[in-house]
Amino acid sequence: MYPIVKKEQLADKIFLMDVKAERVAKTCMPGQFIIVKIDEEGERIPLTICDYDREAGTITIVFQVVGASTQRMTGLEVGDSFRDFVGPLGCASEFCSEEIEDLKKKKILFVAGGVGAAPVYPQVKWMHENGIDVDVIVGSKTKDMLILEKEMEAVAGNLYVTTDDGSYGRSGMVTTVIEDLVKDGNTYDVCVAIGPMIMMKFVCLLTKKLEIPTIVSMNPIMVDGTGMCGACRLTVGDEVKFACVDGPEFDGHLVDFDQAMKRQQMYKTEEGRAMLKLQE
Ligand code: FES
Repeated sequence: MYPIVKKEQLADKIFLMDVKAERVAKTCMPGQFIIVKIDEEGERIPLTICDYDREAGTITIVFQVVGASTQRMTGLEVGDSFRDFVGPLGCASEFCSEEIEDLKKKKILFVAGGVGAAPVYPQVKWMHENGIDVDVIVGSKTKDMLILEKEMEAVAGNLYVTTDDGSYGRSGMVTTVIEDLVKDGNTYDVCVAIGPMIMMKFVCLLTKKLEIPTIVSMNPIMVDGTGMCGACRLTVGDEVKFACVDGPEFDGHLVDFDQAMKRQQMYKTEEGRAMLKLQE
């Protein structure tokens, strides 16, 4: 059993939990994910690791209520436990295997949209701990939906906050901020964009034009995280990949977002899932 040692509501329908899972905390790296199960009958829910404390043996997860299982998770309190907490799964962010001295020479831009701030945070923190300053853009629909701002501020070289409705920080989409930064003379060797599919798609269209190589996390299309359900199948260049096994991070300029978003929609209904099975 994996006890919850902290629970916090970050925004409407967005919760943070610290869970005691010593083995996972010992080996996990930024970019990886875990699968939780509330009880024997519970659905498997894949969630990206938002933070980890190797000494305390805890993992921080952030989740948004999107269906019955995540709704059930909100009913768990400090002292309650998850039946399963499996991980770390997926590949670590590719930065983690690069030489620190090489990374220090690069200008890196992180772009987080909505709950995407949760998987971006451990990567920026890892950079900070290794003495690498990075620029970070965090976007949300409104001020109330903005999460992890203080945490991000503590580890980002430069932090740019924007809201779609202009209720806080800059006004407009994350893509507008990228354009502004580039117009101001900033150049980037690589961009990491994590957030809703539509946001990642538009960031990639822009960075392709700006010739900034871009990494995206295809976490949003995962369903069971096991490589079995087929939900996270996507086309990257001319290859078929599974986000939960081959990713979750991919070259954003090669991802077929339209196809992935269509599959994501179809996967939501039983009829759609049956159709997808027929096509495979
Ligand atoms: Fe089911 Fe990847 S999430 S196969």
